[in-house]
Amino acid sequence: MKEKILVVDDEKVILQLTSMILRNKGFEVVTAESGREGLDFLEKEPVPLVLLDYMMPVMDGMTALKEIKERFPATYVIMFTGKGSEEIAVELMKAGASDYVLKPFKNQDLLDRIENALLIRRIELHNQELRAEIEKWNQELEQRVAEKSAELERAQMEIVQAEKLAAFGHLSAGMAHEIRNPLNSISLFAQILHSSLSADEDLREYPEKIIKEVDRIDGILRNLLNASKRPHVELQGVDLAKEVENALELFEAQIHRQGVEVETDIAPNPPLIQADAHEVAQIFNNLIVNALYEMPHGGSLRISLRYDEQFFFIEVRDSGRGIPKENLYRVFDPFFTTKERGTGLGLSVVLRIVKGYGGKINVASNPGEGTTFHIQLPIFPL
Ligand SMILES: Nc1ncnc2c1ncn2[C@@H]1O[C@H](COP(=O)(O)OP(=O)(O)OP(=O)(O)O)[C@@H](O)[C@H]1O
Ligand SMILES: [Mg+2]
Repeated sequence: MKEKILVVDDEKVILQLTSMILRNKGFEVVTAESGREGLDFLEKEPVPLVLLDYMMPVMDGMTALKEIKERFPATYVIMFTGKGSEEIAVELMKAGASDYVLKPFKNQDLLDRIENALLIRRIELHNQELRAEIEKWNQELEQRVAEKSAELERAQMEIVQAEKLAAFGHLSAGMAHEIRNPLNSISLFAQILHSSLSADEDLREYPEKIIKEVDRIDGILRNLLNASKRPHVELQGVDLAKEVENALELFEAQIHRQGVEVETDIAPNPPLIQADAHEVAQIFNNLIVNALYEMPHGGSLRISLRYDEQFFFIEVRDSGRGIPKENLYRVFDPFFTTKERGTGLGLSVVLRIVKGYGGKINVASNPGEGTTFHIQLPIFPL
């Protein structure tokens, strides 16, 4: 059996005649006596082709055609028109008719046009499928390009991080050393000055201020050295789960005061990592300090720890203000800070420590939604 064809005409004779011709040629035929009846049929069962009369009472052919094409685009329509209505035929084609047949028609002519319309329909539907497939491939390709680009960007960021770390290490170690000696002298002379002034002297507050400021510079230098070179480390088996717990305990009061909710998701029985406990603590402390700073009026802090045979995966997530995209690549830079009283060394210290164990760290953030730091540490550091 060939395709099903719906014939819509208000003249019964035409319906009978066309049905007979088409059935003879092996088509399945259904009929309707009005446009409305035809549309009701399509609603139940959309057929590939409709033969539609132009001149019909109640709902005229043009209206029926437009509604069919709008609601059933895969149904093709051939119109019957009366002689002398070629101009109307143009309008019908514009409205989506595939072809038109002038009444009275020759049987063979009608059949040829039907075969032709059905052939075009098959080709066009096939083309649509191909286009959809190509579109899908395109999307997959774009997705893969985006994934690979992101991978490349991450790899590049790591290289840049490593280079910065090395350059920063040389510079700061040298500088700190050079500054510390004169700083020592300043401190010493200020102390002499201080002790040589009697207790009631107004001027005494000046050397006091000098000593305090010198102490502050010394603190910064200490941080700087800490961020740039590995101090003497004592390796021992460290339980990361315990370190998370310790760090949270340390900030308990602040967490409570700010109304921050803490959630931990720690995989059971993590293996011990050979590391310096003090260094590991610094990782968590710095990340938690930063996270809490961004949630002055409450929020949530989520720390998770997972592992496989090779790596630990640590995540520290906050629901704070987030990091603007343009700062995302700078937060690990020494001295990069957006805080009035920050030194911008916290994350440099974290980066230096993570790298020291052959690990990786990166950050993801949606401004307004929060920030997540991802750390990957080898279970057996080199
Ligand atoms: N969790 C976070 N949410 C939003 N911004 C962050 C977060 N952590 C770090 N930052 C941004 O990165 C910058 C650098 O952080 P880093 O810890 O290195 O320095 P700091 O906190 O500014 O100063 P320091 O830690 O030396 O006191 C911060 O100033 C802040 O802008
Ligand atoms: Mg910090």
